[in-house]
Amino acid sequence: MNKYAKARAHTNIALIKYWGKRDERLKLPTTNSLSLTLNQFYTDTSVQFDERLVSDQVCFNGKILDQAAARRITNFLDVVRTQTGMQTKARVQTTNNVPTAAGLASSASGFAALAAAASRASGMRLNHRELSRLARRGSGSATRSIDGGFVEWHRGIGDRTSFATPVAPKDYWDLNVLAILIDEQPKKISSSKGMQLSQATSPYYAEWEKLCKQDLKKIKIAIKTKDFEQLGRIAEENAMRMHALTLSASPDFSYFAADSLKAMRLVQQLRANGIPCYFTMDAGPNVKVLVEPENRASVLSTLQAAFGNDKVVVAAPGPGVQYLK
Ligand code: PMV
Repeated sequence: MNKYAKARAHTNIALIKYWGKRDERLKLPTTNSLSLTLNQFYTDTSVQFDERLVSDQVCFNGKILDQAAARRITNFLDVVRTQTGMQTKARVQTTNNVPTAAGLASSASGFAALAAAASRASGMRLNHRELSRLARRGSGSATRSIDGGFVEWHRGIGDRTSFATPVAPKDYWDLNVLAILIDEQPKKISSSKGMQLSQATSPYYAEWEKLCKQDLKKIKIAIKTKDFEQLGRIAEENAMRMHALTLSASPDFSYFAADSLKAMRLVQQLRANGIPCYFTMDAGPNVKVLVEPENRASVLSTLQAAFGNDKVVVAAPGPGVQYLK
């Protein structure tokens, strides 16, 4: 058995967000979500199972991680070991290809690449649905990084039915996502913690679940009909509803930095000036702007003038998971 494999997975940006779990261990979400896989940010990961190792060894961006830092990866490898009935420890090498200090390092691309490399190295042969289920055990958003283009993650009725499926491939629609790199705030609430708090304390959580269903239906129609303004409007509203769950939690918290708000206002101004563009934002201060290619240059120059030339990365729809030599 070949016990080595290497894979590449790209990160994704959710247009209909995942914000809450109904099962913490299995990472089963409360709602379906929908994302676009991006070409610019990806993770390469190799996994080698080796009988001689006494513990897992994890090398992240060239640095060996201590056991505490490697715990999430080790826990994930335990899931693979349980599923295959093997006990062998592994050597994991992983490199994140994101602009330096961007705060874009993503658990989505990380766990999707790890799921692909670890399952293949262990001898499992998984199709995309099975791989997506496995990636879910590492990080919810990783469920959606197995496929390229637009992807929907189904909440399912349990572990076997909660996986992602492609909605439209990466070449279906020529779009851009401009990622504005905004500095991390010192105190960051992890997405897991943030979800728990929102679910447990926001009085609007039930409404969120209801609205997500409607948003999802509408955005799938917008994708089908390539209606950019609908797509952007729904994505922007859905993102703000997610952030409203943090502001309405008790205690309240927020992922907005001053520059996040500045970016959102700029996008609204551009729109008021007749340029269709829309923003979305995850559990961190970076803002991503959706724009069609014909308006990319004007939106890009406005954002660069406000944040600096090297602070805006132009991304486009990206591919699904790939195996590397
Ligand atoms: O995959 P996690 O646990 O890091 O959660 C991701 C949550 C959001 O990025 C905010 C939304 C999403 O659907 O990706």
